[in-house]
Amino acid sequence: MTLEEAVDVRHSVRQYVDKPIEEEKRQKLNAFVDDINQESGLHIQLVYDERKAFAGGLASYGKFKGVSNYIALVGKKSKDLEEKIGYYGEKIVLYAKTLGLNTCWVALTFKNIKNAYQVKKGEKFLMVISLGYGVHNGFARKSKKGEEVSKEYETAPKWFRNGVDFALKAPTAINQQKFAITLSEENKVKIKAIFGPYSKVDLGIVKLHFELGAGKENFTWVD
Ligand SMILES: Cc1cc2nc3c(=O)[nH]c(=O)nc-3n(C[C@H](O)[C@H](O)[C@H](O)COP(=O)(O)O)c2cc1C
Repeated sequence: MTLEEAVDVRHSVRQYVDKPIEEEKRQKLNAFVDDINQESGLHIQLVYDERKAFAGGLASYGKFKGVSNYIALVGKKSKDLEEKIGYYGEKIVLYAKTLGLNTCWVALTFKNIKNAYQVKKGEKFLMVISLGYGVHNGFARKSKKGEEVSKEYETAPKWFRNGVDFALKAPTAINQQKFAITLSEENKVKIKAIFGPYSKVDLGIVKLHFELGAGKENFTWVD
């Protein structure tokens, strides 16, 4: 399965079976995250076999069950930290799916566990992504339509429509899908986050999906 194929079958999963992630898959995930940290300068960490973060009442309020692994999203404080975490975090989500693992972005319903991961001086911890074998593979949910997030959708070339379709399959906080994508002259694409909770993280996630759908070679991002 490629990352592009993973976009089609990924859904948030909040309940997990009691099956540890195999050593071979851990090594693949670790190597993938190492590469991402090298490329991005982020300090994303995988936390395996740690049940306390999702053991309290908060987790059951958020409908999480059986979470024993997660991804701690950490990086140097900067203006674009949230967008970067969104982009690279989602790359890990899709890669995990290619390994047969389920995930869910989690901003709220977990507890910070001291020493489970590192936050160095000058760094900020944003949120986590739960990781493991789900009791199911999640479900399709409601989505906005292409023309609701892009005025050019109907008349745009195929690569752009494909990008928008992939963007609409992206996870966003409370499924808000608060973004607008514009096609301007000469294959220049602009994407804007509309104000909402965590919408800057959403923006990074949606950008990655758009690139996978449209093909990076077909356009350039403009501000
Ligand atoms: C930045 C972000 C934060 C999220 N926080 C939570 C959360 O705290 N609790 C939760 O149950 N789901 C959370 N989600 C998952 C969304 O509710 C989910 O992605 C959305 O409903 C779309 O469903 P899908 O991922 O199955 O496509 C979050 C998603 C994102 C992108």
